[in-house]
Amino acid sequence: MATTINKDDKMRFDVGVVGLGHVGLTLATALAETGSRVLGVERRGDIVSMTNMGEPHISEAGLPEMLAHAVGNGHLKATQSFAPGTSCDVYVITVGTPLGPDGLARTDFIEAATREVAENMGDGALVILRSTVKIGAARNIVAPILAATGKRFEIAMCPERTLEGRAMHELHRLPQIVGADTVETRERAAHFFYKLTPTCVQVSTLETAEIIKLVDNTFRDVQFGFANEVARICDVYGVNAMEVIPGGKLGYPRTNVALPGLVGGPCLQKDPHILAQSLREVGLDLDITTSARRVNERQPSETIEFILDEYHKRSETAPTVALLGMAFKGVPATNDLRGAMSLQVLTALETAAPSATIRIFDPVCSSGQLAEVAPRAVIAATMQSALESADIAIISNNHPDLASLRPRQMLGLMAEDGFIYDYWNHFSDLRPYELGPNYFAVGNTGHRTDARGSLKKGAA
Ligand SMILES: NC(=O)c1ccc[n+]([C@@H]2O[C@H](COP(=O)([O-])OP(=O)(O)OC[C@H]3O[C@@H](n4cnc5c(N)ncnc54)[C@H](O)[C@@H]3O)[C@@H](O)[C@H]2O)c1
Repeated sequence: MATTINKDDKMRFDVGVVGLGHVGLTLATALAETGSRVLGVERRGDIVSMTNMGEPHISEAGLPEMLAHAVGNGHLKATQSFAPGTSCDVYVITVGTPLGPDGLARTDFIEAATREVAENMGDGALVILRSTVKIGAARNIVAPILAATGKRFEIAMCPERTLEGRAMHELHRLPQIVGADTVETRERAAHFFYKLTPTCVQVSTLETAEIIKLVDNTFRDVQFGFANEVARICDVYGVNAMEVIPGGKLGYPRTNVALPGLVGGPCLQKDPHILAQSLREVGLDLDITTSARRVNERQPSETIEFILDEYHKRSETAPTVALLGMAFKGVPATNDLRGAMSLQVLTALETAAPSATIRIFDPVCSSGQLAEVAPRAVIAATMQSALESADIAIISNNHPDLASLRPRQMLGLMAEDGFIYDYWNHFSDLRPYELGPNYFAVGNTGHRTDARGSLKKGAA
């Protein structure tokens, strides 16, 4: 039901969302659009200012219009901290949970955000943890900080599962996982989310919800890891993974192997590690989870080795390389560079070929963003200028613009002996003669084994 905004009641909010990043800003806006009065608490002043002007600091389809509307009608307000006298019925913690330099999930953001909530909340508040956390974090980190205040509170774990780029759509479509230890808290948290979505899946503990989130993302990582393993098999035997995988699935209902490619992004690069870390702390090693992650993480250096070997068959000089598609994914399009595997490809290239000239291009990311993450690279304004006389073109995400030129057109702009390496198999619909001998892709590199089974490269 829409909340009426009462001029005398400026300090009371239905919801306080702590952290206005990808998860917090989209959720706060969607809730405000349902009529709730939402206070967004964000420690970064630049994000607070932009939000209060109705301008999103992230690219997300539909968000600019909805945010402008929600701020314009006064349902969403951002601030850097809870002002004294402010109160919220429900608090949602959406701060980041990146891995630290030791490779372990950081909990300090969650702790700090919980302390802010603890100080502000009144008796009877519902506190929802939405960030992706290691198993037991809601019970062992968040709940004790809240309990230390002596105030009555309820706690639920309701993880975010939306796809970046489709968040405003999926917030209203995806079933919401609601985990809490009592029926009353589950019902209260589910009632809160029914403003957004028709389906809530109530599960019986906080840990159940934490595990669901980690298992969902790890399942995807393992699937992609296996697809990349299939690509390695195909590379060794000189067959095409884009023949093996779709061919094996056609009309056969018992397998659904994913397609190979770079696997990263803000969630997949860390969530399997968070799951494995959780279990290691109780003495269990997760073999499949860690192996799949390893396959995905070593792909950049393994493939750069192939790419440079291929180049050195043609020349001994330092190559000029065009690295195309820097965001962590191209569909739905995003400018998010967090966990982008293109950056690992760049690092592997800079390490293995320190004298190479590397040009980078992305259809969505701004040059300022690219300069920040790749200070040594040359930033190209267009794909064509990146390709001009380049020796090697590497396609590192699946943005459709990167397939706007056919391989032969790309090669036409490049140096005479130039070649393409495509991490996304953009051109798997083309026949081999259309691709030519200077096009390679993950799982399609023309490797061959000799009679004794040892590897010979590029003997196609
Ligand atoms: N990005 C996604 O699409 C997605 C999807 C599902 C789950 N998740 C999970 O949700 C969580 C948040 O992800 P994100 O992508 O929104 O992260 P993010 O880094 O984009 O946003 C977090 C925001 O919280 C702010 N913040 C940190 N500490 C704060 C504090 N104490 N008080 C106020 N603000 C604070 C940061 O400044 C930042 O703007 C992570 O655990 C992530 O794994 C993300």
